[in-house]
Amino acid sequence: MLVAPSILSAEFGQLSNDVKAICEGGCDYVHVDVMDGHFVPNLTIGPVVVEAVAKASTKPLDIHLMVENNSFFVDLFAPLKPEFISFHIEEEKHPHRLIQKIRSLGIRPAITLNPHTPPESIEYLLGDIDMVLLMSVNPGFGGQSFIPTVIEKATKLKALIQKRNPNCLIEVDGGVSDKNISLLKDAGVDMVVAGSYVYGNKNGIKYAIDSLKV
Ligand code: DX5
Ligand code: ZN
Repeated sequence: MLVAPSILSAEFGQLSNDVKAICEGGCDYVHVDVMDGHFVPNLTIGPVVVEAVAKASTKPLDIHLMVENNSFFVDLFAPLKPEFISFHIEEEKHPHRLIQKIRSLGIRPAITLNPHTPPESIEYLLGDIDMVLLMSVNPGFGGQSFIPTVIEKATKLKALIQKRNPNCLIEVDGGVSDKNISLLKDAGVDMVVAGSYVYGNKNGIKYAIDSLKV
């Protein structure tokens, strides 16, 4: 299992130290939650702060856009050369065009689905993307409870991926911990995001990351 801790649960007063801590703790990617106060009822960070994150990080960035006007935000973050940029399908009228744009900028395109959005809705886009991010909470905040129907969704998505693009990864984001990691693994999930579980773990960040690497 690949692990992408979310810096949303970091202490922002010491952000670069908290980014270094997850890198030293063995994470695979650094997950960056970009919220605009419109698509979700929360506002987070822009390119100035994410540039500082990129400087502190020894691991590639996984940028999760939770915004209106995806194309504008892709332009803002592309110069930071993230590995992935994911956008919400619920907020995109022309996903195929946006995927081509992300790819043309040398970034791996990914699509995010809210908890209610069926995996079949992106069947004809799977051939063009490198990852699907399944939300297991309503996007906007860290520390929410895991929505268990994501397990069934991941299983359905895995079958579609095997048919359309076996190289496409499945990532799950929200309420991930050692309590649900085995279920996610069994459902075919390749990568998990974890914020509060990693940064709030009483046994430390490295222990938390290790416990998700099943
Ligand atoms: C929620 C974000 C998540 C969040 C996860 O909108 O997309 O990445 O930070 O936090 P936890 O792991 O605490 O649910
Ligand atoms: Zn996220």
